[in-house]
Amino acid sequence: MRYGHFDDSRREYVITQPDTPLPWINYLGSEAYFGLISNTAGGYSFYRDARLRRITRYRYNNVPLDSGGRYLYLRDDAPPAEGGDEGAFWSPSWQPARHDLEDYACRHGLGYSIIGSTYRGIEAQTRYFVPLGDNLEIWQLTLTNHRSEAAHLSVFACVEFCLWDAWDDATNYQRNLSIGEVEVEDAVIYHKSEYRERRNHFAFFACSGEWAGFDTQRDVFLGLYGGWDKPAAVERGRSFNSVAHGWAPIGSHHVRVALEPGGTHQVVFLLGYHENPADRKFDPPTSSLIDKAGVKPIIARYLEPENVDAAFRALRAYWDDLLAVFQVDTPDVHTDRMVNVWNAYQCMVTFNLSRSASFFESGVGRGMGFRDSNQDLLGFVHMVPARARRRILDLAATQLESGGAYHQYQPLTKRGNDAVGANFNDDPLWLVLSVAAYLKETGDGSILDEPVPYDNQPGSEQPLYEHLQRSLRYTLDRLGPHGLPLIGRADWNDCLNLNTFSSTPGESFQTATSKDGETAESVFIAGLFVLAARELAAIARWRGLEEEAHTYEAEAARMETGVLEHGWDGDWFLRAYDDSSRKVGSRECQEGRIFVESQGICILAGIGLDGGAEGKGPLAEQALASVREHLVTPHGIVLHQPAYSRYYLHLGEISSYPPGYKENAGIFCHTNPWIMIAEAIVGHGDQAHDYYMRINPSAREAIADLHRCEPYVYAQMIAGRDAPTHGEAKNSWLTGTAAWNYVAISQWILGIRPTYAGLQVAPVVPSNWPGFTATRVFRGVTHRITVERVGEGNDVCLSVDGVPVPGDIVPLPPKGQTEVRVQVGLGRAQG
Ligand code: BGC
Ligand code: NOJ
Repeated sequence: MRYGHFDDSRREYVITQPDTPLPWINYLGSEAYFGLISNTAGGYSFYRDARLRRITRYRYNNVPLDSGGRYLYLRDDAPPAEGGDEGAFWSPSWQPARHDLEDYACRHGLGYSIIGSTYRGIEAQTRYFVPLGDNLEIWQLTLTNHRSEAAHLSVFACVEFCLWDAWDDATNYQRNLSIGEVEVEDAVIYHKSEYRERRNHFAFFACSGEWAGFDTQRDVFLGLYGGWDKPAAVERGRSFNSVAHGWAPIGSHHVRVALEPGGTHQVVFLLGYHENPADRKFDPPTSSLIDKAGVKPIIARYLEPENVDAAFRALRAYWDDLLAVFQVDTPDVHTDRMVNVWNAYQCMVTFNLSRSASFFESGVGRGMGFRDSNQDLLGFVHMVPARARRRILDLAATQLESGGAYHQYQPLTKRGNDAVGANFNDDPLWLVLSVAAYLKETGDGSILDEPVPYDNQPGSEQPLYEHLQRSLRYTLDRLGPHGLPLIGRADWNDCLNLNTFSSTPGESFQTATSKDGETAESVFIAGLFVLAARELAAIARWRGLEEEAHTYEAEAARMETGVLEHGWDGDWFLRAYDDSSRKVGSRECQEGRIFVESQGICILAGIGLDGGAEGKGPLAEQALASVREHLVTPHGIVLHQPAYSRYYLHLGEISSYPPGYKENAGIFCHTNPWIMIAEAIVGHGDQAHDYYMRINPSAREAIADLHRCEPYVYAQMIAGRDAPTHGEAKNSWLTGTAAWNYVAISQWILGIRPTYAGLQVAPVVPSNWPGFTATRVFRGVTHRITVERVGEGNDVCLSVDGVPVPGDIVPLPPKGQTEVRVQVGLGRAQG
């Protein structure tokens, strides 16, 4: 069944049934203050770093599902004689009280969610969003009385504060239960645990409206054995005005609202984060009371409804501008809404959060991944090029002098750490791809000259260009017995741990090593190296360094030869050689005979496009035919086949998963677009788009009970054919799937691709598409593109502003011209 629908014109997904198969969430915030919000107002907020600056508390894996959030309660205060139902209370977002609501709807939009319902004639709509430029979230509640009598209501709002470090908060109770502190002043609740000592930040929770009371001690508000569904204060209709000293600080406001029949009223709640200068923390300076001079004007501004409305309009305009960079109109609605809205939006969310905080990533474990963030950039660079530039420089500054990279860095400090392991030998190569994407998008070569340190060490700065050179060198310095790159800890597939050999329960596959790492090799890294070396050659050539370009091309060619000699298995590309130099991903194997990653990346690198054995076609075609034969399911392309049926010491985490899940032959959606791109490269538009549709979230909306995750964003994984729950998705939102699908559909299937020379238009679309139109802002020029099919195949006949142009690249117009009309005749015209 369906739990909602797309409202394409408002760019919203409208959930009409609250008990979705999993919490269907959205993100608030686009700069520094962020929040996750589910369709029933569950979730939490943090400032910059989901671990170190957690503002509100959230308990993962809770019972019932998704408990804790930005909760409002409405209580009927009018006695029956006055038409009321005194004492009845409910949650307008369904959770946590879970009454049968009428007209429940959650509209997830771009950076905001509106959750509303009607209960016993009282309509309540809450718009949740984070305004641009400030570190707070707004809950704008509008109440409307549809009864024929006046209504007297109490509104209770509640958040549970986190004691800042989310990890300590969940573990260190002997300390935590004694440190909680708050202040309540002028109807604002300030959460200031640890402010007395080294922190200079605090949280605040404010409200407009007729303030009737507050609570700040959770167990007083709820009642000692009470739950969120039935807080004692709400039941009795009056706050306790409790002040937290230790235990569990919360912020709860009680506001009374009287509404005439048909009357409507707005209450604004603000939850925010504020930092004071270290020397202006206290007022008076010798006290431990917060100096509120800086925060008060911010609170006052957003308690004014006009300012809130203006901030919301600004947020909408911000998103409209970002999305306007690329818009399409194709014959397929699922393609349109993902490209135009949701896929681009998800790319921005991965830009902000990498893999840190979702309903599947707890926010305490993982910082920004080096490999992840470089790939994410491919999906957002066109929308926020200046921020992408900053991101590249931050990432490169965590690179090591060896050319290697920390596997992740902490967003708050921007320092690299190897908490989840080091020596993933693919890591540094992704930096070349992100820089190439940035250069093609912007033409801003100055980034290559930026001095960037290694490991953030002052004095070690070298131009970014040298970082890229060292990335390639890192691979070349680490070749194995077949001349292929040593895999190290793992490559893109974090779970292919060929040097780990772990037999200790619970030991991390990502940090344990028991081999010297001198033998196991990765064909995937070989392919990625060829791709990166060719990109660096193009960069060098663009900068006029012809000789260097030749060097990189020669290295790429040498590696390509290595792949053809030692990385081809007869019908597909091999995956790896293990620590005993036995093949992984070969027909010689019992299990794990064919892997998807090496097929994808090698073809992207241009390996196997020409030649090939008699009657069999080029290797790329053979590899793709093998993918089709062995790996494709109705729900997407699985990672390998056959799945590993048991644990193999020499393969590591990949074989730790039950068959069909995650890296053990799950549909790891990140890799599917590589195959779409490969199909596009060899000219198969029908096949490429068919694969695109299999995992397209919107196209899977109708099977929501099976798919379970949100129908508007990609999930990392869909259970593979070996799993009992084949087709069920997990780990939505924070996944490289977002960026790569965006690249696959926009740059390769629709074929609109930035190059150094201009915007390329080389569509490889389904044969039955009569054409499509697109608008792409590229280097400040709006390209209005019309593609019309004139015959079979993918030939391009280009004209720009009515003038025929050879090839398929739209030259950059003379300075000052801000718009071009691009006409493409697609296919070979008859006669
Ligand atoms: C997961 C991988 C992930 C890794 C991160 C593994 O358990 O299966 O998908 O990349 O953890 O550390
Ligand atoms: C998720 C990780 O974030 C990513 O870096 C990795 O490539 C995939 N899992 C595959 O293991």
